[in-house]
Amino acid sequence: MSSRVFITFLLVFITFNALALSLDQQLRLIINEYDLKSETCSINKDLINERLTPIGEIVFNTPVLSGNKDTSCSTCHIENKHLTDGLSISIGVGGDGEGQLRMSSGGIIVPRNSFTLFGRASSHYQTFFWDGKVQEVNGKIYSPIGEGYALGFGSTLAVAAVLPILARDEFLGLQSLTQSNPNLNQINEVYYGEKLGAANNVLRQIVSAPKDENSKKLAQALLEAGVKEPDIQTIGNSLASFIAKRVQQCQPTHWDKYISGESSALTDKQKQGAVIFYGKGRCAGCHSGSLFTDFKFHSIGAPQGEFGPYIHRQDIGRANVTYRLEDRFRFRTPPLIHVTKTAPYGHNGEFKTIEEIVLFHINPIPYFAENGWTSKRELLQYGKILSTRSEMLGFIDISTKEEMDELLQFLLAL
Ligand code: HEC
Ligand code: HEC
Repeated sequence: MSSRVFITFLLVFITFNALALSLDQQLRLIINEYDLKSETCSINKDLINERLTPIGEIVFNTPVLSGNKDTSCSTCHIENKHLTDGLSISIGVGGDGEGQLRMSSGGIIVPRNSFTLFGRASSHYQTFFWDGKVQEVNGKIYSPIGEGYALGFGSTLAVAAVLPILARDEFLGLQSLTQSNPNLNQINEVYYGEKLGAANNVLRQIVSAPKDENSKKLAQALLEAGVKEPDIQTIGNSLASFIAKRVQQCQPTHWDKYISGESSALTDKQKQGAVIFYGKGRCAGCHSGSLFTDFKFHSIGAPQGEFGPYIHRQDIGRANVTYRLEDRFRFRTPPLIHVTKTAPYGHNGEFKTIEEIVLFHINPIPYFAENGWTSKRELLQYGKILSTRSEMLGFIDISTKEEMDELLQFLLAL
């Protein structure tokens, strides 16, 4: 924790005690001190390009660019599931159906918990994915496909939005010696630096001689937008535009309303919970700012699931982007936007309820006592993960069930 934040905590805490302020007065102080804004539904208008939105909509909602024609963004960012998929970890190509049905459909596992897309079109949202593999720093967009602006992408969201299209498990299709689809072969078999070029070729093949209804629609939309040489950058910018338009229809939360001055938008319990969140609960040490994330990387020591993406089915999180030892098992602080609607929780969705993961921040032992050590691997390996837990978690001071209830009530307002 930065010393500034720590001193702020102390100051706010001491001031409250000294002045015995009312709950609302305490909260207004907190809101001012942390400069909290109602940002859940805020949109960077620059993302929206009316000409490109229809292109984004087709790519988002139809499997037009999917190698096996079975996956679209809306497979895992589902309209009636608050733009998540409701699963612990996602099922990509080869899968069928929604929700639990999809789990047993034989599809390929994308071993991370899917995010909602609300809040992602804010101009302050510049670090994407659980490991931050797409990130804008000092005017440069770092990403596995290269520097985003130099490549012609208009925003960080546009780069994040196209990565799934280049991924085998999410989009390209099943790989097999005899049956891989031609898109997969063309894009998968080149190194990252060349993937964009290969993907552009595939895209142009799809729209220059459209074979199915969706390809025809895409070709038509590109034509109407005046795009002569379609490329993945245009697709990314179109997806960003569509996502921004879609999440613009977001409803302000109770907390948004409270920030905007409506004091009756929260119950007294929720107000108590907010004071805990920003005070002795230390939640805002990481879930800070108007989007409830510092966009930094921390470890809470979450258990490894059965399907991590790296060697020995581990998920080492941020370390796979930076290759730094100290980043092992660290994940980007998840924004708590609409958190009650985005179960299950954690980078691999191991936690079914909010209460479970909040308790786990404080003390991981009850979780294992209740859920059992699901595998020998956990029993023998968990110490390594435990040792990476952020020190800040040790400062969380929630000592009664009432305080925990109030905190959880507050999260309902986000
Ligand atoms: C197979 C399921 C699946 C498909 C298909 C899919 N996503 Fe996702 N999406 C995920 C998962 C899982 C994550 C989190 C992955 C991670 O962080 O490593 C994610 C993360 C994201 C994020 C980052 C959000 C954040 O807060 O960092 C964006 C943006 C996104 N997806 C957009 C898209 C778009 C656009 C498409 C279609 C081109 C798409 N997704 C297709 C499952 C999917
Ligand atoms: C040290 C930084 C840190 C602090 C302090 C912290 N969190 Fe977290 N929180 C995280 C990280 C990192 C994750 C994701 C961990 C993972 O999946 O491996 C997370 C996950 C969560 C989630 C799940 C969100 C989702 O979408 O999956 C909730 C809810 C949550 N935290 C609430 C809280 C509350 C409430 C507090 C205060 C008691 C708190 N956190 C304190 C870093 C922190």
